[in-house]
Amino acid sequence: MESRFSRRQILKLMGLSLCSPAFSKLAVAADTPWVLGFGSCMDTRKNQSFWETLNARSFSHFAFLGDNLYPERDTLIGLETAYQKLGLSEGLKKLRERVSVSAIWDDHDFGADNADASLPFRRESLALFRIFWTQDYASDDDGIYSSQMFEHQGRKIHLILLDARFNRTAYESPKKLDSNLTSSKPFEPSLLGARQWEWLEAELNRPADLKIIGSSIQVLSAEHRFEKWMNYPDEYERLVGILGRISAPTLILSGDRHLHEISKKQLVSGRALYDFTSSGFNKAEGLSRFERNKLRVQRNLDDGFGEVQIRWVDNVAYVSMSMIDKTGEVRFTHSDFVV
Ligand SMILES: [Fe+2]
Repeated sequence: MESRFSRRQILKLMGLSLCSPAFSKLAVAADTPWVLGFGSCMDTRKNQSFWETLNARSFSHFAFLGDNLYPERDTLIGLETAYQKLGLSEGLKKLRERVSVSAIWDDHDFGADNADASLPFRRESLALFRIFWTQDYASDDDGIYSSQMFEHQGRKIHLILLDARFNRTAYESPKKLDSNLTSSKPFEPSLLGARQWEWLEAELNRPADLKIIGSSIQVLSAEHRFEKWMNYPDEYERLVGILGRISAPTLILSGDRHLHEISKKQLVSGRALYDFTSSGFNKAEGLSRFERNKLRVQRNLDDGFGEVQIRWVDNVAYVSMSMIDKTGEVRFTHSDFVV
């Protein structure tokens, strides 16, 4: 069985580096890339001009990574009304007519700011999501996680979309927050829940040339005070450990943060892991200018969406990650072999 390191060695033997003219020619000759558009944090009450830009571009698939709507009130009626308004979006209708689309939720389209499994109307929210985002789900009743396998030039791209809301608990014990509360049970924080973990491990072990994981909250960026996988350190370690061990390389996409950035972490196994965050179709708030992230390789604080282009050199994915603003201008691009 081919080891993951031999792929990079193959590239070296071919004399290819990212800036070599040989690679540029090869990349251009590799004709049509597979293109995944994605984004998060979309408010029907704000500027909708991004739709025109988005619908002028060619995508192989488009993924909405949560906070796809913002209810005016954190109630079931507020959520229903927000879905009705989003259903009137001509831009979304046009996108869904021409491109296959999938989605996950984050807190606001789940039902409330920072909501978790204690949301009183989480079952009703689940039903609303499934009526609106017609797609196949991995479970009937355990949330909205899903996966799809795409074929591109004889290679397999496996898109795995996670649900970080339906089974999520608080990450700090209520006891710790309120010393008057006592409980005999030890507090066990949960992000994905046992059934989703079982499904995810099986999905990650399916053969593919590239895995793409969509998570509503950031996986790698950990120095900020907002929601992130690192608030659940056991589950963070579990995910990153698996991604270092499986045979296929993985790219992570995330949302939620009202900013666009790319983080890169060198795993113990030698593999490099990227987390490309695109957040703020029309709701990037520019509030995180001073936020630290030692893993950051790119950042932009304006409105826009993300685009991932995948080309193949031998069987290695050459991935270009771009942030595109609402006027269509590419604000950053970072390209690398994902091995
Ligand atoms: Fe969010």
